[in-house]
Amino acid sequence: MKKQLAALLFLLGSLEANDMGSLLFHGNCVTCHYELENKSAPAMIHVRERYLQAFPKKEDFVSFMSTWVMHPNEERSIMQDAIAKYELMPQLAFEKDVLEDIAEYIYETDFRKIHKNHNY
Ligand code: HEC
Repeated sequence: MKKQLAALLFLLGSLEANDMGSLLFHGNCVTCHYELENKSAPAMIHVRERYLQAFPKKEDFVSFMSTWVMHPNEERSIMQDAIAKYELMPQLAFEKDVLEDIAEYIYETDFRKIHKNHNY
């Protein structure tokens, strides 16, 4: 047990910001946003594409996405079609810096590449 705890602490200590973003994304967003498949929400790959078109610069992408997710808001949405189809995303209780880590991870992750060896 002690050994396992030490291993876990080591793992946490060696996580980079990007890994943290990945963990947070998979723990909190994937329930609704599958990476490649539309489910109860648009697939993250589509959200990412839309955001990249609107905000090519990482800084703008992260700033807009983290602010929007903090307070989902129809007026400021850049995915009006998704709201019409799925209804507005519910507000989740997250700190802004957590949402920034997640948005950074989404900006940097080509979800199609990650899954090139998988069947979905
Ligand atoms: C309970 C389900 C649910 C969870 C959990 C969820 N979302 Fe969403 N999200 C939605 C739905 C539904 C939409 C599409 C409607 C909309 O755009 O509001 C959406 C839309 C979005 C959009 C597009 C915003 C726009 O411009 O309209 C972003 C960005 C987003 N989600 C990010 C996230 C992130 C990041 C997380 C994890 C922290 C997350 N979502 C967790 C349901 C969810």
